[in-house]
Amino acid sequence: MSYPITTIILAAGKGTRMPSKNPKALQTVLGEAMLSHVYSVAQSISDTIWTVVGYKADMITDYLAKNHGEKALQHTILQEKQLGTGHAVQCAMQKINENTTNNAEKILILNADVPLISTEILTDFITKSEKYPLSFISLYLPDAKSYGRVARQGFVDKAKNTPCTAHEDNKGNVAKIIEAKDFKVQYPNSAIYEVNSGIYLVDAQILNEFLPLLSSQNANNEYYITDIIGLAKDKNIPLEAFCFENAEALLGVNNPLELYEAEKTLQQTINTKLMSNGVVLHNPESIRISPFVEIAAGVEIFGPCEIYGKSKIEQYTTIESHCVIKNTQIGEACTIKSFCHFEDAIVGNNAKLGPYARLRPQAELSDNVHLGNFVEIKKSKIGNASKVNHLSYIGDSIVGSDVNVGAGCITCNYDGRNKFQTIIEDNAFLGSNCAFVAPVTIGKNTLVAAGSVITKDTPENTLAIARQRQTNLKKR
Ligand code: UD1
Ligand code: CA
Repeated sequence: MSYPITTIILAAGKGTRMPSKNPKALQTVLGEAMLSHVYSVAQSISDTIWTVVGYKADMITDYLAKNHGEKALQHTILQEKQLGTGHAVQCAMQKINENTTNNAEKILILNADVPLISTEILTDFITKSEKYPLSFISLYLPDAKSYGRVARQGFVDKAKNTPCTAHEDNKGNVAKIIEAKDFKVQYPNSAIYEVNSGIYLVDAQILNEFLPLLSSQNANNEYYITDIIGLAKDKNIPLEAFCFENAEALLGVNNPLELYEAEKTLQQTINTKLMSNGVVLHNPESIRISPFVEIAAGVEIFGPCEIYGKSKIEQYTTIESHCVIKNTQIGEACTIKSFCHFEDAIVGNNAKLGPYARLRPQAELSDNVHLGNFVEIKKSKIGNASKVNHLSYIGDSIVGSDVNVGAGCITCNYDGRNKFQTIIEDNAFLGSNCAFVAPVTIGKNTLVAAGSVITKDTPENTLAIARQRQTNLKKR
């Protein structure tokens, strides 16, 4: 950007039109909170991002800290009572003014419920807005729904006398934004199809001048940020609404239907881009991939399937249907069979995993690892070419290379109070149905007899048997 921009994201609202245990900003679109979509785009064009939180503020601040880091957490602003978007910006400016002396600063205001917004649109808008102290993005909608109507002077003059419809030729001279409910009261028989996207670029100085003048005398009894347009216009401040054609990317998400529509649009955009880059998607309508995922050309994915977060999949890997993969890196030429669940894990090259394998956080598989059905790996490293093929739990463990873990082996890592580590060294062969009571180490080349409960370390090259000898008694 040619000049520094401070962004304010408004995320304090409850989302009354979308009842949920989560605040609206945390509703997900393709597995990522709407706030994350907006935050990531804001990050690409702005150094400082302030997020206004209010309803269930703790949930949002926790989320920001976890997903966008300490800086995002430190730049949250509490709007204790949600008195409207204008009030939210008032709260933000109070804090921003405390942190800066530069009154010429440009402030970009974004709603958290516009998840399809793109860097391209914002960059274009910022370039167009350079010489205006106040501007915003508008869009044309055949159904203006609950959006604020952009009233240009021509409309205001005409509609005073006769009901009318504002047309495209009504360019320039923005007079004010009229919120949907107020519009219906003030102009019951008129229509405007140019609406406010809720994205504004404003000089800090203009906000500081006009925010104190906002009133809540309107149909919602709220302080509207949109009122600064009319107030600035009355003082002859140069302002403009830039009408963008890509309306889909600017739509607000206020209810479950709009959430569905936003998801569908984004899904189609992402999948089309992946396919044009050489990723093969079978049944793409049922494949949901978040925009933060990286997938190399030559990967093949069968739907239905979900891949979210900062997942990365290298070339020639195949992912069969019904897999859910979050924040997981998968190497080259792996085969991930159906019904696998991976989260916060790392998989090397040439792995064969599943069906029904589960990788939990901090599972790290080296190259050539095989995991079979109903195998769960948590916070463990599995070495090169090791196999855990059936019904096993490996937790808090380090497993060497060329280890064979027999069916039904369990690392007993938890004594009810604390967690302990199991180490299984290279080339060990663990018979079926063994329990390893941690902390415990199995030495290199050790053979553990089936059904053993191992409580003591075993030296290298031994045969460990820890079970009752079988007795065959004569039947009576
Ligand atoms: C808002 C605009 C409307 C515009 C539309 C675009 C106002 C008054 N209206 O309406 O002109 O067409 O967006 O999508 O601004 N929020 C707070 N604190 C509050 C109230 C809301 O932080 O006290 C946040 C919400 O969490 C949300 C954003 O502000 O992220 C917008 O609020 P919302 O209620 O969705 O506004 P709309 O009715 O959609
Ligand atoms: Ca909205």
